[in-house]
Amino acid sequence: MNIDDVKNITVIGAGNMGHQIALLAAIQGYNTTCTDVAPEILAKAEDFANNYLPGRVAKEKLTQEQAAAVRARLTFTDDLAVAVKDADYVIEAVVEVLELKRKIFANLDRLAPEHAILATNSSAIVSSKIADVTKRPDKVLNLHFFNPALVMKLVEVVQGPHVSDETAQVSMALCDRLGKVSVHVKKEVEGFLLNRIFAAITKEALWLLEMGVASFEDIDKAQVFGAGHPMGAFRLMDLTGIDLNYIMAMEKFRGSGDEADLPAPSVVERYMKGDYGQKTGKGWYDYT
Ligand SMILES: NC(=O)c1ccc[n+]([C@@H]2O[C@H](COP(=O)([O-])OP(=O)(O)OC[C@H]3O[C@@H](n4cnc5c(N)ncnc54)[C@H](O)[C@@H]3O)[C@@H](O)[C@H]2O)c1
Repeated sequence: MNIDDVKNITVIGAGNMGHQIALLAAIQGYNTTCTDVAPEILAKAEDFANNYLPGRVAKEKLTQEQAAAVRARLTFTDDLAVAVKDADYVIEAVVEVLELKRKIFANLDRLAPEHAILATNSSAIVSSKIADVTKRPDKVLNLHFFNPALVMKLVEVVQGPHVSDETAQVSMALCDRLGKVSVHVKKEVEGFLLNRIFAAITKEALWLLEMGVASFEDIDKAQVFGAGHPMGAFRLMDLTGIDLNYIMAMEKFRGSGDEADLPAPSVVERYMKGDYGQKTGKGWYDYT
């Protein structure tokens, strides 16, 4: 398959990631179908598109005609068979549950055209844990967008051992056409590229804090004013959720049994208090 053969894109899951990936694809000229099992989530995704597009017109990023054409290219349905019957490229963005993803990919393999590439947007589940439920493992890969998908430029294209070069190349070319910057991840490693780098920085920042070397404010300042990072590790944790940091560390510890993987005491303290960051009004910083 060639990138020019990709005309129809289907996004499975209209949640945080899916609704924006679908809108992005429609904006970049693809006939896009977005599907979800939850009607209220689909309605929310449709409302988002209906509000976002006039906003782009007001900001002169799109003309009225362009916005109308984007809207006409974007359809929403709760019927998976209808959603994928003409798909050339499918992007799955449902909740992070392996058994659910395996079930969905088995259905996609049955319902989508034989030539279609089936990608998962999963952050942590590598496609080799899913590909074997299909008869086209060479066309099943991770295509990892970042949140918010309409804004963040990076997409990680992860080529596990079962993925063909053609699938990886078409996927990278697709990212290009979606206006994204893709990176080719040539091996399936936990966290891919960026989340591994962030995890290492966060771990070091927490170690410096726990050792009393500096305050979290000063560690953040060092990153922002010394390295030009848009925010430091603690501010970022407040944004992504201290609960997520805790849960992921516990998950890692359960897998490794290594006490070094346990969440840092200062993270546990905040987690127990329910101070998860921006979403609760308090985390490392106070947002009240
Ligand atoms: N949130 C992030 O910051 C982020 C960033 C990158 C990647 N991801 C990955 O993207 C995926 C989705 O994450 P999210 O944050 O958008 O989750 P979310 O919970 O916001 O959305 C998931 C959606 O999947 C739907 N769903 C559940 N079962 C379904 C089914 N059988 N068919 C169709 N839809 C179904 C749910 O109704 C929900 O709307 C995950 O694999 C996650 O690892 C998330």
